Amino acid sequence: MEEIRELATKFERYSAHSHITGLGLDENLKARDIGGGLVGQKKAREAAGIIVRLIRDGKMAGRGILIAGPPGTGKTAIAVAISKELGKDIPFVQVSASEFYSSEMKKTEALYQTMRKAIGVRIRDTRRVLEGEVVELDYNMVPNPYNPTQKVPESARITLATEKEKRSFSVGSRIALQFMYSGISEGDVIIIDKETGRVTKVGRTGSGKKYDIDVEEVAERPDGYVEKDKEYTYVVTLHDLDEARARRSTIFSLFSSESREIDNEIRQAVDEQVKDWIEQGMAELIPGVLFIDETHLMDIELFAFMNRAMESEMAPIIILASNRGFAKIRGTDDISPHGIPLDLLDRLLIITTEPYSRDEIRLIIETRSAEMGLLLDQDAIEKLTEIGYSNSLRYAIQLLAPANELAKTRNSGKIEVEDVERAEMLFVDVSKSSAYLKEWEERMLT
Ligand SMILES: Nc1ncnc2c1ncn2[C@@H]1O[C@H](COP(=O)(O)OP(=O)(O)O)[C@@H](O)[C@H]1O
Ligand SMILES: [Mg+2]
Repeated sequence: MEEIRELATKFERYSAHSHITGLGLDENLKARDIGGGLVGQKKAREAAGIIVRLIRDGKMAGRGILIAGPPGTGKTAIAVAISKELGKDIPFVQVSASEFYSSEMKKTEALYQTMRKAIGVRIRDTRRVLEGEVVELDYNMVPNPYNPTQKVPESARITLATEKEKRSFSVGSRIALQFMYSGISEGDVIIIDKETGRVTKVGRTGSGKKYDIDVEEVAERPDGYVEKDKEYTYVVTLHDLDEARARRSTIFSLFSSESREIDNEIRQAVDEQVKDWIEQGMAELIPGVLFIDETHLMDIELFAFMNRAMESEMAPIIILASNRGFAKIRGTDDISPHGIPLDLLDRLLIITTEPYSRDEIRLIIETRSAEMGLLLDQDAIEKLTEIGYSNSLRYAIQLLAPANELAKTRNSGKIEVEDVERAEMLFVDVSKSSAYLKEWEERMLT
């Protein structure tokens, strides 16, 4: 089997939403006033809770969700909360529709690849492994050929012990480097995949040096033989499998670039393979979620493609977000609700988000600053609430970090109203910056 990358956590890019941990619902799917880092917006959160259930029960296949509401009303925040509720076993991919337009590939290809990133395959696989407690580990160090002042392991000799036996192995530089980077030492219980050479640390036994014992998993010296078959499960995406297969085909190995188009024949072969695995009880399909933000940037071709693709048995659940009311469908002169074609709208369950009250904005700002570990005095909070209410919530939240820097330049650990005002002066919001440039454009024309 080919080399397989496991699902990485994809939450780094949600930094603006790092205070959100879930939908904050009780067991009857009622929204708490504040929960999961979310404030208010109860109807939308409760609707999202039902959607999470439907997704978990596999009842959303072929359907999608549209979250519609004015800017800064928490559409992205709710999508992030849905992903937190679904947990990390269900793939969740977030993109802005603008990402489909690139010079590297056709837009429909970019969309298709993204859709396949949102479908997981849980594979059960039996691998030949070496497992045991490390009782001896010696590196053979040589000067780094690229930098002779450094030393790198050229090989290593390792002895693994179980209750039943002790075996020694010599390994090459690739595995030796893995030992080094994962800090493997005597007393660790490790697993080495015999075929791929991948090294996994299970934990530490009590017989190793005692330090760090409470921050690490404790493990027992295994019984049985060192070499054995072990069953694993792991999740990969259809896109991972597509790429792995494409890499093996000779034509593709000529290209070295990271992103590239994948042949439809390759995808078909992957689908066949996955269906085979499923029939043999070796694999399970996990349809995940593809969240497409800034949906108004999609054009008619992308919509048509997506609508067709949603009918396939291997399609993810689609969540769209839009802040447009009636708008032109890109690439046409037709006006439709949210700029989305009617045949696609027919498939969508729609949730709306509403503008926040002053009190809700204040609470959101407090929740967010607490998560960032910031201290604000009461006037600063009021000022930001006012900005959030009259400009936009996103802008108010974005001002927190620079205001904090300004407080620090005063040697203060607490943000005061002057820091907020300063930050507001230095960083304008998007309506001001665009109005400013528009004014300039007009002056240039006259
Ligand atoms: N109900 C809420 N509770 C807590 N934080 C929220 C809430 N709604 C929005 N936010 C935060 O406010 C900011 C703007 O919201 P966002 O989700 O980006 O709005 P939209 O996607 O509708 O434009 C984000 O940082 C978001 O996490
Ligand atoms: Mg958004």
